[in-house]
Amino acid sequence: MDRFVIKGGERLKGKVRVGGAKNSALPILAASLLAEGTSTVLDVPDLADIRAMSELLGDLGAAVTRGPDSEVRIRVEDEGLCHARYDRVRKMRASICVLGPLLGKRGRARVAMPGGCAIGSRPVNLHLRGLRALGADIELQGGDIVATGKRLTGAEIFLGGPFGSTVLGTANVMMAAVLAEGTTTIESAACEPEIQDLADYLNAMGARVGGAGTPRMVIDGVDELRGVEHRVIPDRIEAGTFMIAAALTNGEVTLSNVRTDHMLAVVDKLREIGVSVNSTDGETVVSSARRLEPTDVTTQPYPGFPTDLQAQILSLLCLADGNSAITEKIFPDRFMHVAELLRMGADIRKEGPTAIVTGVKRLIGAPVMASDLRASAALVLAGLVARGSTTVSRVYHIDRGYEHIEVKLRSLGADIQRISD
Ligand code: EPZ
Repeated sequence: MDRFVIKGGERLKGKVRVGGAKNSALPILAASLLAEGTSTVLDVPDLADIRAMSELLGDLGAAVTRGPDSEVRIRVEDEGLCHARYDRVRKMRASICVLGPLLGKRGRARVAMPGGCAIGSRPVNLHLRGLRALGADIELQGGDIVATGKRLTGAEIFLGGPFGSTVLGTANVMMAAVLAEGTTTIESAACEPEIQDLADYLNAMGARVGGAGTPRMVIDGVDELRGVEHRVIPDRIEAGTFMIAAALTNGEVTLSNVRTDHMLAVVDKLREIGVSVNSTDGETVVSSARRLEPTDVTTQPYPGFPTDLQAQILSLLCLADGNSAITEKIFPDRFMHVAELLRMGADIRKEGPTAIVTGVKRLIGAPVMASDLRASAALVLAGLVARGSTTVSRVYHIDRGYEHIEVKLRSLGADIQRISD
């Protein structure tokens, strides 16, 4: 198992390109199961989760190849294979997003029911409710979701849950509805940019999806979709992670391939903390004053502050000049990084879904353990600024969602090495 050894204290300076969004690319690759002919997806990051999705599509009868310009080509060759097995799904929850396309295109799907994960309980009841509303028969057999429905029929579907809408649930229902008979209306649809990107992809394929990016989507079913070429949007979470790295190290980092219009809540919060964020000519320069102001952060569905940057901003606020409160409204148990940050000298108290952070003068390097993707990113960020050496073990978590993060950080002047056992 690989680990990172980081010597803290280097000021990050230079330019880095943000990759394509993992959370766009995953459902978009799954949506390619709907197409006739070859689909080409550009700017797909080379990540463990993307490789897992490519292998899953292979299990489901698609030929998947990776070419230059982070290009992935998908061509379905055998529509008889419809089983997403547990050993795949348990490694990557986003496997669930083959359910909608399989059902919509092939009329049947067998997908292992995902279990819990490090960020808390993650049910899929809303996905199933939406697909049932389209007329699918769904039952659980031996831990698998078994769904059938020869031709789905458009319906009115409400996708709100106790913590807001559902991103992959919206994706699944949308992907099943594009080939359904008649019109589907999704109320309380997720508004994330990744959903908009998926809708753009489906529409280029010939689908008729309206209202993506708003809570009310209207989908008119069509008979057939064809393979097209599509470039995925830049990863707003990778961009936010590098912005916070610049802020923590009093650095000056220029980001290219960044959509700050997808990150208004993040940019606004960073400015409140005293970080300068300026965009010109398609690039964004992030630098920080020595003094970081404390603030309150509450995670919310888009366009609110994203849960996928909660751990990273918590690391930043560990060094702010005063008390901050960070409240998690999407995954209330997503605080595995807190105990590890305490090992590095942070002052954090947990009260229910809120972390109260009292800024300290400095963090101190320590051996720490990554528990999930974004928690690992938060530990790497803390290591960049801690006094002495930090070892982050189990970095396979970070490899799931950040492409060569240590190479990118090193190009900005960080002292970070990957050690393989
Ligand atoms: C997506 O997960 C992302 N994953 C997550 O990113 C992200 O944290 C999350 O959206 C929220 O923004 C991908 O896009 C691959 P949800 P998803 O369904 O779609 C509850 C990362 O680090 N819920 O929008 O699975 C759920 O428990 C990952 O890159 C139900 O109650 O999340 C949560 O409280 C981690 N019933 C809330 O809704 C359901 O059927 C939002 O979850 C589904 C969800």
